[in-house]
Amino acid sequence: MTAAQIDPRHDPVLIDGVIDALAIQPGERHVDATFGAGGYTRAMLAKGATVFAFDRDPDAIAEGESLVRDGEGRLALVAAPFSAMESELAALDAVPVDGVTMDIGVSSMQLDRAERGFSFQTDGPLDMRMSQAGETAADFLNGAEEEEIADILYRYGEEPRSRRVAKAIVAARPLTRTSELAAVVRKALGHRPHDKKDPATRTFQAIRIHLNRELGELADGLAAAERVLKPGGRLAVVTFHSLEDRMVKRFLRERSGATPAMSRHLPAVRAKEEPSFEIVGRPVRADEAEVTRNPRARSATLRVARRTAAAPWTKGKAR
Ligand SMILES: C[S@@+](CC[C@H](N)C(=O)[O-])C[C@H]1O[C@@H](n2cnc3c(N)ncnc32)[C@H](O)[C@@H]1O
Repeated sequence: MTAAQIDPRHDPVLIDGVIDALAIQPGERHVDATFGAGGYTRAMLAKGATVFAFDRDPDAIAEGESLVRDGEGRLALVAAPFSAMESELAALDAVPVDGVTMDIGVSSMQLDRAERGFSFQTDGPLDMRMSQAGETAADFLNGAEEEEIADILYRYGEEPRSRRVAKAIVAARPLTRTSELAAVVRKALGHRPHDKKDPATRTFQAIRIHLNRELGELADGLAAAERVLKPGGRLAVVTFHSLEDRMVKRFLRERSGATPAMSRHLPAVRAKEEPSFEIVGRPVRADEAEVTRNPRARSATLRVARRTAAAPWTKGKAR
């Protein structure tokens, strides 16, 4: 049985690659930074690890409670963003760890539940908050300046016609439902039935990334992983789009010394930093069999690195 077959409810993306890369020995301590439906955590537990699993979505944590009972004391669920990994693990007396795994983005559970407001394919309230707290997508879209909306669509959705979409959104306010937003975007951009991608895809992605501070979380999470991993500890990161993958790639290239210091203005500071990671292998993508089984896997990329014994870097963000 492969790890992917452990939980029939869910098909965790690239799980065989992740579990191979982690090379878990029984008794090791591992962080699953993005618990979701618990696919990776189940596979880690099956290898004999003790797992500290984070999720900022209270639904994911609540639904994981039965797994905690089955985990026989080897699973702790932490309802917190993974940017807070270091202090949360320290409070559990769990630093350092042997592995940190991140499976970035929204879960199929979040996408499939219309009431969470992540999907443009089903109608629901314009929500999109992973943590179920703070500003909703409706609050943002109905209150922001047109220019700010356009900037966010351009930056996080790579929407080439961001100004046109932002103008249409402002003209249609107030918006309260995902179906309304999707219709406004399709009308603004023109939706032809043979289009491969729904034009609303980029807008929904951008708003979700902005509201949930996803790129900031990723940068902080990578830096936290660097601080909690022991020498020889493994980092495995799965991303779903180029903005995130670029950030992980840059972080690992910089921290492994594969690229020179990014800032030409700080040569003295950068020269002191020893590589804190070694990149392991090449990026891994899903094979055809996995993509056929799970189309979401098509855009997934796994990058793996091993922590060296060098001190964590004091300077330089993961962005
Ligand atoms: C792609 S899913 C993970 C799926 C998981 N690997 C599995 O096998 O079921 C991503 C999960 O990470 C959570 N998440 C995203 N960003 C987070 C963050 N910054 N901190 C904690 N959890 C986060 C989401 O709420 C979601 O449940």
